[in-house]
Amino acid sequence: MKNKESWGKDLLTLQSVIDVERGDLYIGESNKHIPFDIKRFYVISGVPKKKSLRGMHAHKEIHQAIFSLKGTFTLHIDNGHKKWEVILDKPSHGILIKNKIWHYMTNFSKDCVILVVASDYYREDDYVRNYEDFLRMI
Ligand code: TYD
Repeated sequence: MKNKESWGKDLLTLQSVIDVERGDLYIGESNKHIPFDIKRFYVISGVPKKKSLRGMHAHKEIHQAIFSLKGTFTLHIDNGHKKWEVILDKPSHGILIKNKIWHYMTNFSKDCVILVVASDYYREDDYVRNYEDFLRMI
């Protein structure tokens, strides 16, 4: 992990109920563990190659929170001034990806299952998919 102190404020911690007999439970509530109203979730799984690339965009308005439910991947985030990378490898801890943050994911383990929760429904017009456009936006 690089520059841990810089992204630490965006580290999200779910409520964990660890139960060795029955399995573990992780809980996230809107505006408590996740700092927005959740309107959508999506799951990414079956990423075929460690070097596969996902993301590579920013959002104009939508906030997201991202977790590894299983396996590991590296999240790269960039606010236009500084770049960080974080390895996500457990369900209990995620990262807040606010709007206007360029992000992409790499280095996926074969068994990786990613959960993303978002503050709004899917809107293609909220995406900024070109890095130069992102820099102009911020
Ligand atoms: P995309 O956001 O490009 O994936 P990633 O950022 O993980 O690389 O989405 C891939 C496709 O799925 C794209 O055609 C849009 C569609 N999509 C939806 O229809 N709804 C959604 O909530 C998301 C995230 C994507």
